[in-house]
Amino acid sequence: MSEKTQKPKILVARSIFPDILERLQEVAEVESNQSDRIWEPEALRQALVDKDAAIITGSEPIGEAHLKTATHLKIISNIAVGYNNLDLAALKAANILATNTPDVLTETTADFGFALLMATARRVTETEHWLRAAHWKKFSICDTPLAMDIHHSNLGIMGMGRIGQAIAKRASGFSMNVMYHNRSRLSPDLEQECGARYVDRDTLLKESDHIILVMPYTPENHHLFGEKELSLMKPTATLINIARGGIVDELALAKALKEKRIFAAGIDVFEGEPTVRPELLALSNVVLSPHIASATEKTRRAMIELAIKNCLAGLAGQTPPNLIAY
Ligand code: GLV
Repeated sequence: MSEKTQKPKILVARSIFPDILERLQEVAEVESNQSDRIWEPEALRQALVDKDAAIITGSEPIGEAHLKTATHLKIISNIAVGYNNLDLAALKAANILATNTPDVLTETTADFGFALLMATARRVTETEHWLRAAHWKKFSICDTPLAMDIHHSNLGIMGMGRIGQAIAKRASGFSMNVMYHNRSRLSPDLEQECGARYVDRDTLLKESDHIILVMPYTPENHHLFGEKELSLMKPTATLINIARGGIVDELALAKALKEKRIFAAGIDVFEGEPTVRPELLALSNVVLSPHIASATEKTRRAMIELAIKNCLAGLAGQTPPNLIAY
């Protein structure tokens, strides 16, 4: 902590709502980035040199190189539930705490997962483009872009944490038959509450009409969805990814979509985001969105507030509410 000001020095790495920033400035000396510029790794390293804490997003990778010179740093507070941007081993070695923002985004993210599922299966964006391009000449019973049903279909959820469970609960309103695969199985009570049955991965791949990915991204599940997994899916199935881009081999996915080996995909997260592969952009049977699953104003505000709460708790020597175990 800076001796001159007695206020902690905090980097707020990306733009946040001005009223929240103003409140933070009352209790901390803040370096902000309200122009929301993207950080080069070296600039981020330099910005951390004199900071006691940093509030960052999932777009700012933090590794050993950033931490070597950040000798005052006590806590990195991620404004995201996912934290694959953080090198936890390096943070542990440097004795720096790390936190994330679970819970506050669960329902909003589950809503979006469902929205993307519906847009994909029912070809909402594709047919809108078709209409805007003046292809709609008449109402037709079967000479029209036909879609896949959601109701009474088989939904496969990969990753059954909070967001997966919230999606399962939504699915019951659509009379879907929900199966899931997860590192650990839910308790029987929770399975019943979610109306979901546990299956092995291959069963989920083979039997699902719609698959939604909501698991955390780890080195173990990098490109977990590749050629082989896609080949097990039904040709009528859709794949929805609201987890992280790196979980899916995007080139294999683009090929499967192009060859109509699966029906369609809905993708909110990309391996090289914000760059989207031209192979995906060229396809009509994919709905693409710019990493917005938690992007409602209410939820983004709640995420920032929680990140600040975590940060200030860590700086005060308390255990932050959302401490990441490492
Ligand atoms: C968004 O992707 C998050 O992890 O919160």
